[in-house]
Amino acid sequence: NFVPVIICGGAGSRLWPLSRENHPKPLIKLGDGLSLVQHALKRAMGLPGAQDLITVTNRDLFFAMEDEYRQMDCQPRQARYLLESEGRNTAAAIALASLDAVQAFGDDVILCVLPADHVVADTAAFGKAVERAQQLASEGRLVTFGIRPDRAETGYGYIEADGEDVRQFVEKPDAETAESYLKSGRFLWNAGMFCFKASVMISLMEQFCPDILDGTRGALTAGRTTSGDGLAQVTVDPEKFAEIRSDSIDYAVLEKAPNVAVVACDIGWNDIGSWSALGEQFDRDESGNLIDGNVSAVNSSNNVVSGSGRLVGLVGVEDLIIADTPDALLVASRESAQDVKLLYNRLKEAG
Ligand code: GDD
Ligand code: MG
Repeated sequence: NFVPVIICGGAGSRLWPLSRENHPKPLIKLGDGLSLVQHALKRAMGLPGAQDLITVTNRDLFFAMEDEYRQMDCQPRQARYLLESEGRNTAAAIALASLDAVQAFGDDVILCVLPADHVVADTAAFGKAVERAQQLASEGRLVTFGIRPDRAETGYGYIEADGEDVRQFVEKPDAETAESYLKSGRFLWNAGMFCFKASVMISLMEQFCPDILDGTRGALTAGRTTSGDGLAQVTVDPEKFAEIRSDSIDYAVLEKAPNVAVVACDIGWNDIGSWSALGEQFDRDESGNLIDGNVSAVNSSNNVVSGSGRLVGLVGVEDLIIADTPDALLVASRESAQDVKLLYNRLKEAG
């Protein structure tokens, strides 16, 4: 009894202007024409034993998500949408999924949480990793997936591993700590995907973040479920949901829980968090430019260029991010990729 859970929440502020308030990051299309959400569906339904699917997302994204899924061949037998009135972070999203799954599929159901905004290039290796995770989860473990780090990234969680046991989980360490973790060779990145028995997650939350669990339970009980035809829409009570403490599963549970397991894997994982990461998915020309779209480059190297139809010309420029959309153009230096969110926030404030 295994059910994948796609969580889709982030605005994708670092990918402006491709991601906008009404066109969030998971709807961004990759070079193969499929959106991140469609890739997530493929990834989920390809997992061993997957038949049904839970999607946790904002209620405003329901129709867009449905539409994205419908265009794909790999349809779940039953699609359950858990629709949030606002984002309360991943602890609440995972609490929702666990509570709903126990109701819909029973106490023993094993869930595998998959963020909608990642890519996993090696699906066969990922399938094997999940198979091992399912085994560990059936023994009552909370399972993480560990990726060998290649830089001292401060935007990820780090797992100190002792075989398949997690010695220590540290969410988003500072630069100095991340550097020392990288050097030690004992740490893996947390891929942000988790596998566990729904009932085990619920009891861990009872122990480590009972307020979030109770709040979510209350919002769910006061919400509504409509179902039929292989599709269920579960809504929450907006007022109750708004009161839930916003915390990530990493801080709320993972850093505290005992007996966490890790499956180390080499699966071509990439968190499409910024233009640098998205650029890695583009075609590379002989000068190291990463290109998506109609681009002509002269004496230009190592740029990330995303076009939207019309021709983009580059002459004598290096290390730039250029993202052209019909109504907005981004020009940034590659080293400022993370700071695109500052621009996004400013534009949002300005309305
Ligand atoms: N439904 C829903 N509701 N989804 C959410 C919400 C929410 O309120 N908040 C976040 N998500 C989704 C995001 O869309 C994303 O797919 C996933 O949950 C993770 O959230 P992020 O906000 O992207 O987390 P992060 O990148 O800062 O950190 C996490 O992922 C890293 C790897 O990508 C952590 O798990 C880190 O430890 C990990 O290394
Ligand atoms: Mg992320």
